[in-house]
Amino acid sequence: MNKDRLEWFKSARFGLFIHWGIYSIPAQGEWVLFQNDWNYSYYEQFASRFNPVDFKPEKWAELAWNAGMRYVVFTTKHHDGFCMFDSKATDFKITNTPYGKDILAELIKAFRARGLKIGLYHSLVDWRHPHYVPDAEHPLWKKGEEAFKGRDRSIYREYLYRQVRQLLSDYGKIDLLFFDYTSKYKTPDEWEPEPLLKMIYELQPEIIVNDRLSYWKTPKLYGDYLTPEICVPNAAASIDGVEYPWETCATMNGHWGYCSEDKNFKSPQTILESLVKCVSLNGNLLLNIGPDALGRIPEGSVSIMKELAKWMNQHSESIHGAGRSELPAPYGLHYTQKDKKTIYLHIFTPPMGDIILPELNGKIKSIELLSDHSETQQITHWGMELLDKKELRIRPHKTLEPMSVLKIILH
Ligand code: GLC
Repeated sequence: MNKDRLEWFKSARFGLFIHWGIYSIPAQGEWVLFQNDWNYSYYEQFASRFNPVDFKPEKWAELAWNAGMRYVVFTTKHHDGFCMFDSKATDFKITNTPYGKDILAELIKAFRARGLKIGLYHSLVDWRHPHYVPDAEHPLWKKGEEAFKGRDRSIYREYLYRQVRQLLSDYGKIDLLFFDYTSKYKTPDEWEPEPLLKMIYELQPEIIVNDRLSYWKTPKLYGDYLTPEICVPNAAASIDGVEYPWETCATMNGHWGYCSEDKNFKSPQTILESLVKCVSLNGNLLLNIGPDALGRIPEGSVSIMKELAKWMNQHSESIHGAGRSELPAPYGLHYTQKDKKTIYLHIFTPPMGDIILPELNGKIKSIELLSDHSETQQITHWGMELLDKKELRIRPHKTLEPMSVLKIILH
């Protein structure tokens, strides 16, 4: 693995995931075809209606950048098979809708111009392709093998390779490829990962690829980084004791694709806490939005992103370019660290009183509240009798807000 290719990824720490396709019309999430047992001809008519006239990629990019996101991962094709780019391999695509334009090209242009790295999500699963071999997570599975006999997975594989080749040839520099996914019912042979990855790295030598070309990551990991989903792991993601760069992806409500009924959005604080925990374990967070059929980001997501922007405005240095600290944090609190001398103490909820820092007695040059740069006092005249010699007692000088950060500079 060429480590340098991953530098930007490990420094970015926070990305925007976008699940968008014709499933935004029935508005029940991206698995709607499977979950409702719809036939394809019914589902396909959504393509002839898709016309997101309110799509403003520059605004999306601005919102993402201000929220502290430094890369975007966009669904070029989801499991339904519909392509959000001008695919040369199928007619089931965005340029054959009333919208008519290549949404992927528009999105890449805007996000790249705003300074975000570009990531493409591409579904390995394809419920519509006549040679994709169904498994238990395919709409035809329940109908029994008769319904799909005679399929030739090498024909689907050629289609997949053709799509990937186009995506990595026609849209300039692509920084990341997010394949989704190999179920536990399939082996990596389905895609032949070796020639596929060879082609990918030849077309885009600096690209990084996620880990979903196989379900199990041993005996061999295909790709560069690990992708747990909607959870913060207990430790940096690893395989057989070896740590890898990693990213957890998560929804803001309970769906990836737009779901009109789902207003159950997580709080900005919950999301920020998760982001900090990921960074404190050397990981990233890829936070999702599911735009609607007109191209609008749901209000609940916009308001979360605006709240994140307020926090990032004062605290982003504790996230970007930061990672795990070598030092143990106070009980129940979290550190992120930038270099040998700069530690950020994240305080999710205001503490009962003083904070005891392990191992830092005599090692600190200054401690300041990141939001206003005010000095935090070290307490030595009192309350030392039960401390370990290496511990240090500090007293944030005024009432802390939730999600406060103390910046600790060491000698
Ligand atoms: C799961 C879901 C899929 C979603 C993905 C995001 O694989 O099946 O719909 O796109 O998670 O990581």
